[in-house]
Amino acid sequence: MDRLVVASISSSLMLLVVAGLVHPSSGGITTTSRSTSCGYQSCHATKPGFINVHLVPHTHDDVGWLKTVDQYYYGSRTGIQKAGVQYILDSVVEELQANPERRFIYVEMAFFWQWWEEQDESTRDVVRDLVSQGRLEFINGGWCMNDEATTHYVDIIDQMSLGLSLLNDTFGECGRPRIAWQIDPFGHSREQAFIFSQMGYDGLFFGRLDHEDKKQRMAAKTMEMVWSSSSLGQTGWLFTGVNYNLYQPPPGFCFDILCSDSPVIDNPKSKEYNVDQRVTEFLNYCQRQSEAYATDHILLTMGGDFTYQDANVWYKNMDKLIKYANERQTNGSRFNLLYSTPSCYVKSLNGVKKSWPLKTDDFFPYGSDAHSYWTGYFTSRPAFKYMVRQGSNLLQACKQMDSALSWSGSTNQGDVNVMKRAMGIAQHHDAVSGTEKQAVVQDYQGRLHEGVVECQKTQASSQLPILGRPLADVKFCQLNVSQCDVSETSGRFVVNIYNSLARHVDKYVRIPVAGGESYQVLDPDGKVVDSQLIPISPQVQALPGRKSSATEELVFLAAQLPPIGSKSYYVERDSKHRRRHSFKSKSQRLVPGEDHIITTDKVKVRVDGTTGLLSSVTVNGEEYFVQQEFLWYPGYNGDNESADRRSSGAYIFRPNGTDAFPMRRTMTAAIITAVYTGPLVQEIHQFYDSWVSQVIRIYRGQEHVELDWVVGPVPVSDKIGKEVISRVTTTILQSDGTFYTDSNGRQTLRRELDARESYTYTPTEPVSGNYYPINSHLFIRDPVGEQQATVLVDRSQGGSSLIGGLIELMVHRRLLRDDSFGVDEPLDETAFQQGLQQLISRELPENVNLLTLENRSDGSYLIRLEHIYDVGEDKVLSLPVTVSLKDLFPGFAITSAEETILGGNQLKKDSQRLVWHSSSSDKQTNVRSSHSDEFPDVDLQPMEIRTFILNLVRDNRLDK
Ligand SMILES: *[C@@H]1O[C@H](CO)[C@@H](O)[C@H](O)[C@H]1NC(C)=O
Ligand SMILES: *[C@@H]1O[C@H](CO)[C@@H](O)[C@H](O)[C@H]1NC(C)=O
Ligand SMILES: *[C@@H]1O[C@H](CO)[C@@H](O)[C@H](O)[C@H]1NC(C)=O
Ligand SMILES: *[C@@H]1O[C@H](CO)[C@@H](O)[C@H](O)[C@H]1NC(C)=O
Ligand SMILES: [Zn+2]
Repeated sequence: MDRLVVASISSSLMLLVVAGLVHPSSGGITTTSRSTSCGYQSCHATKPGFINVHLVPHTHDDVGWLKTVDQYYYGSRTGIQKAGVQYILDSVVEELQANPERRFIYVEMAFFWQWWEEQDESTRDVVRDLVSQGRLEFINGGWCMNDEATTHYVDIIDQMSLGLSLLNDTFGECGRPRIAWQIDPFGHSREQAFIFSQMGYDGLFFGRLDHEDKKQRMAAKTMEMVWSSSSLGQTGWLFTGVNYNLYQPPPGFCFDILCSDSPVIDNPKSKEYNVDQRVTEFLNYCQRQSEAYATDHILLTMGGDFTYQDANVWYKNMDKLIKYANERQTNGSRFNLLYSTPSCYVKSLNGVKKSWPLKTDDFFPYGSDAHSYWTGYFTSRPAFKYMVRQGSNLLQACKQMDSALSWSGSTNQGDVNVMKRAMGIAQHHDAVSGTEKQAVVQDYQGRLHEGVVECQKTQASSQLPILGRPLADVKFCQLNVSQCDVSETSGRFVVNIYNSLARHVDKYVRIPVAGGESYQVLDPDGKVVDSQLIPISPQVQALPGRKSSATEELVFLAAQLPPIGSKSYYVERDSKHRRRHSFKSKSQRLVPGEDHIITTDKVKVRVDGTTGLLSSVTVNGEEYFVQQEFLWYPGYNGDNESADRRSSGAYIFRPNGTDAFPMRRTMTAAIITAVYTGPLVQEIHQFYDSWVSQVIRIYRGQEHVELDWVVGPVPVSDKIGKEVISRVTTTILQSDGTFYTDSNGRQTLRRELDARESYTYTPTEPVSGNYYPINSHLFIRDPVGEQQATVLVDRSQGGSSLIGGLIELMVHRRLLRDDSFGVDEPLDETAFQQGLQQLISRELPENVNLLTLENRSDGSYLIRLEHIYDVGEDKVLSLPVTVSLKDLFPGFAITSAEETILGGNQLKKDSQRLVWHSSSSDKQTNVRSSHSDEFPDVDLQPMEIRTFILNLVRDNRLDK
């Protein structure tokens, strides 16, 4: 029992510290009693009647940016940036021990975990002590400090949960972060605030908000507020504070080896003695800051990027600053300085009797000055953004398969953690945001690739044998560039499609094949499935990096894919006696000047013969004018010497003027290169320029039109940067320039042209100041709601509606399509029922999503169920719904089910958030105070997500 060697702690705390320190391996001791030595109990006392100055020592450690994650961790490549996270943690742990008054917060778990794994037991003991006494506190606690604009909510929840569960497993309750700390991301989303509220956080702080918003808030003393983050009323409330100086120390008070500010010199015999002057400067700053805040408490961020590599420099000077500033109280000073943390600051504010302003919209877009709107990164590095989105889908499937392998007692050859960590890092605010250096994005891609390889091993492990033979040699295809060795070269192969949704879905599958052949596709019952061959466009065939001889794709409908399960199709290249072949696409003759029309049972698409552009879409017998084309804005070539000379760049979108130029092969028309028709799929191929082409596509049975474009590499030989947009023009006239965008792919928020909901806005950049992040959809509709045009996206992009009836999305290039995999195995054309696999016994209702199914390290399972409709979105589907957990696990009995908060790191019943008051009453308050579920039934309110930890045992009675 090495764990009880905890000598150097004050006796009054002894008992509780022991409880908080129990290590998972120590066994026998239960940790049900909550430690009261960390958290709010460990805060230093404040002084009533004084302005309490909370000094928060912190470091901001980017999980990759100018250097890679490992270069930052180890401190290599100092020529790029002097930054080494390992030294920061070494040094801080040392300096915290020197003086129990000192505090430190640590944020990024990707770094902390790397450090923790390299420490010996005695250092770990020291750290456990510091954590259990609240001297070292984890804040935020996700794997990284994620971006909020270009991230999908599924990935935010995953990356937060990854860090939070490791913290709980390592430090128990004292390791649980109470405060969210998004000090650097470039704008803040409402869904992110909702996620924090559901993860039990008591508050959120950030640094960046629009310059006009900040100015107005400082004048009105509304820098701190209650953010109502969803339609769930007070359940979704989150106390939110804006930092005064981003996350930097007061100018002149950066006590870091990276800075050159003067230390506090208190030897009166020295000529350099400066205590009086330094204290006066500091208190003057505190005075100014306190004038912008509503209470007698202010928070000062004492740190910056990769600070505290030599923590002594900071602490030695802050120790003195605190001492000498507080001595002035005897002379009438109103200021009281103390070491603090964001939690202690929030606890102080919570003790103030006050009603806080209520915030309901979000903090996008972020303009740091009149000409710097941070809306370019919504689109920067679109290929990486797409890879991250595909990675997200794969990770969800991979976790599900890993769970199924675990409960069926089979071995998983892959390690899911590799993908979890790679995806966790990818959510960082300089990763998926596209604002990192080239070498760094390559490092992120390499990490994702390693994760994908592990997930493919998991997929291979979970393949059922077909016709009694194990599929030893599963191969995976690069469908992003229409390339697949197996299907291009084999006469027979099996295509296995995995459905990670908890209900049946139909999905069109496209498999690259060598041209000029014919194929037959069989479903698991041996029934022939309709299939069609369609040529791959020359632009896709010429994609850089593509090594493929495929010239056609074989298209078929994978119908009724089982919920959380897979279905296999058998494909055989033609031999003459086959009953039914794939259909060949018919190529329409192109008559100059004549309109081109393609039609399915559901949709008719017309392309104008003169302009070559999409001109109308007919649905349900009604023809709608819909035009679509590519244009580009020239980027502003500024020298950044002043705000009005700001250049367009990775973060900032600043077009030169408001006009976008059409992109057409000739001055008048896009060129239609081909029109293909057939029973399953119809396509019109457009060619705009050597770097812009598009396929307009419709499938049988589907009511939407797919626009599949290839854009890039963007030519810049004319020295003009280009912001390429896809613009859709409709006849729908919204009122007040209103349009709607998603928040991290979940909620939908109303936007208004040239206006902000919560502050007075001066339009200075008419285009980029109206851009918003799009992760799933953007729509416009007429005031009576009879007509609506929606654009769905497959990755994060920036978008807007600048003129009535118009939707524009900033694209760059489009590369990939579906995920599926093939295997080269000969097979009789008889039934092979083993080709169907389903993990859950009943599909979930249409409005419920099984957001997460994953295996926990202790053999239990974590699931999240989500209501995917918001209040009032649909007459029926927006109603509360009840789901039975029993249906999810066929052949198993649930022996225990415990509800946790969203991060899975604390039981729901143990979660008590601070209560706040707001003068404006939150209108929609369909709050449920307590759940009245009859286990194992779970009821869900609109937009609610509920998280459970389940234990299962095989139930033989249920097996048949
Ligand atoms: C948190 O960690 C403790 C041990 O440190 C463990 O007993 C508890 O089950 C964990 N809670 C959750 C919700 O995982
Ligand atoms: C308080 O004021 C007196 C008289 O002005 C001065 O001598 C003394 O140094 C001051 N003390 C502090 C701590 O500033
Ligand atoms: C396609 O995907 C592979 C594997 O994920 C990746 O290495 C490759 O760069 C992608 N191709 C393109 C053109 O983006
Ligand atoms: C803006 O566009 C005009 C017209 O093409 C050009 O002359 C000017 O140099 C551009 N300015 C910047 C800063 O890019
Ligand atoms: Zn940062």
